[in-house]
Amino acid sequence: MTTGSRKVTGFPVPTLPAPPVAVVGLGQLGGSLAAALVAAGREVTGWDVDPAARAAAEARGVRIGRELAGVVVLAVPLPAMSAALDGLTVAPDATVTDLGSVKAPVLAELGAAFGTRYVGGHPMCGTERSGHAATDPALFSGARWALCVEDGTELPRWLRVAEMALDAGAEVVPVTAAEHDSAVAAISHVPHLLAAALAAAAAEAGPLALALAAGSFRDGTRVIGSDPGFVRAMVDGNAAPTTAALARVQEQLARPWADLVADGHAVVTRQQGRRTVRVPLDRAALLALGRAGGAVTRRLAAFVEGWIPETPAPEAA
Ligand SMILES: NC(=O)c1ccc[n+]([C@@H]2O[C@H](COP(=O)([O-])OP(=O)(O)OC[C@H]3O[C@@H](n4cnc5c(N)ncnc54)[C@H](O)[C@@H]3O)[C@@H](O)[C@H]2O)c1
Repeated sequence: MTTGSRKVTGFPVPTLPAPPVAVVGLGQLGGSLAAALVAAGREVTGWDVDPAARAAAEARGVRIGRELAGVVVLAVPLPAMSAALDGLTVAPDATVTDLGSVKAPVLAELGAAFGTRYVGGHPMCGTERSGHAATDPALFSGARWALCVEDGTELPRWLRVAEMALDAGAEVVPVTAAEHDSAVAAISHVPHLLAAALAAAAAEAGPLALALAAGSFRDGTRVIGSDPGFVRAMVDGNAAPTTAALARVQEQLARPWADLVADGHAVVTRQQGRRTVRVPLDRAALLALGRAGGAVTRRLAAFVEGWIPETPAPEAA
């Protein structure tokens, strides 16, 4: 691994051919990304330690190989991230990104190895299934894809990763790793723990309760059907933000039920419109878009286009 390449400062002209993409880990997320990008006309190389995952990806048009260039995507489980490139060749000017569900620990590891060539990412999609058999080229369609803009991030590299996410059908949300980890603790990691707690408590209630379980139990516990190793890697890797987010849920549960139910209902049923915006390729402006709850949908020459949420004005009486 090397950090020695020169910094990229100029933005790639939109009419230049897009760089190739190399995906390491061809399971649910990586296999789906590789397939989506092949369908979008991108040149994709892939690698996986599992020969069956390699064969499945090859059948979808992915070139299998150990020489990685362009945008290199690490789509392996979090514990495998630091060693995933061992034995593979990464072009010295390649941009390295990942799909890991937690960002600060991966930034610490891959940032140390690749410096500003690393741009952390996390697509907010996926199911409780895993492995190459769960490949779905439509997985990223309409999904939000968090993409980290840290202090030293080289924006031209960020843009190349963003273009790849857009090509896969996603919308890109600019974030910092710390902001990402705190946000996903609230909307993903705590829900996984709550699903486990609901399931365990229902089992304690006895076989009758489990026999009567229907839609609300199924919806509330679906995510804990995921591979337990995947869930543990996520919550352990994001322990402090998850503990803080769990404490907020516990505070909510201590409120009078009528108030709690009304407030929760209002959040989930809130009507929100979207306003199209153009954002300059500038760290502060991109992060402001992400913090406002917006996302990037298109790359233009010197800007990106996206949207921010807007609460519709109340109708006149
Ligand atoms: N599953 C989800 O819902 C979800 C959502 C968003 C992000 N992610 C993240 O995406 C990444 C991949 O998750 P997934 O659900 O696709 O997992 P997965 O288990 O479906 O696939 C992982 C693949 O990586 C391969 N692999 C393992 N070690 C490897 C190595 N050293 N070199 C090459 N290949 C290796 C495995 O053989 C497997 O094919 C994880 O970092 C996870 O945090 C998952």
